[in-house]
Amino acid sequence: MVNSLTCSLLSSLFVIVAPGQLTLATRDTQMRELIPKERPMKGKPITNRVFNFVGGATGQWQIVSMDPVVGAPLERVSSLEVLDGNLETLPNGSKWILRGVTSNERYVTRRERDLLTASQPGLGRPEATCAALIPISKSASWWELTQDERRTIFETHSHHIETGLRYLPAIARRLHHCRDLCEEFDFLTWFEYSPANSQMFEELVKGLRESEEWNYVEREIDIRLIRT
Ligand code: HEM
Repeated sequence: MVNSLTCSLLSSLFVIVAPGQLTLATRDTQMRELIPKERPMKGKPITNRVFNFVGGATGQWQIVSMDPVVGAPLERVSSLEVLDGNLETLPNGSKWILRGVTSNERYVTRRERDLLTASQPGLGRPEATCAALIPISKSASWWELTQDERRTIFETHSHHIETGLRYLPAIARRLHHCRDLCEEFDFLTWFEYSPANSQMFEELVKGLRESEEWNYVEREIDIRLIRT
């Protein structure tokens, strides 16, 4: 509540301070510009890292199930479109949009990154016709921890990376961060796999949900899809 209020206050402030440059619009408006259009930017433009998950009546992915694991559900829709970049208008018939950005890793060690790089496949493999979109939010008590305390829970106690590595290269993944965008969730996790590996994916998800890390998950929706 406080969070969303702060975010909406911030967005109004941005509109007043820099009209035409940064507009963080509410969910029911059509304009959702995130990025300043005119201000010169250093480095890679953030638009290269923005991904929009648009739920509605049309899209490349057909939704086969939408199960709230914990916390409030999302409105049920039949399809999902995944669009990159800074969307200026919502596609026709869309009911909701979840946005996130890819970012630098927070927890991996050099050794873990090398292992991940050596075995993780890219998205879009023709045989990977199944997907899962799992939006997740963690509790205030998670965010109050320090980085080293979070790493201890995430990996030393919960073995998130060690476990995940066992499922590569069967499962392709992309992690999107949304907490600092004042979005509804903290993370949007996206996975692609072939029908032959569906059971393996269930086992992975079950294992992670039983770990200490998941004590801090306060909202999670498990959305399963197949490519049309
Ligand atoms: C395919 C196997 C998987 C691998 C290899 C994997 C690997 C990773 C890695 C390396 C990170 C940390 C990135 C960083 O350093 O910032 C991460 C974060 C995360 N993963 Fe996974 N993961 C897998 C499966 C899953 C599944 C199935 C879920 C959800 C059910 C999930 C949810 C998350 C979340 C929410 C984060 C962010 C945690 C945080 O920053 O607090 N992962 N994953």
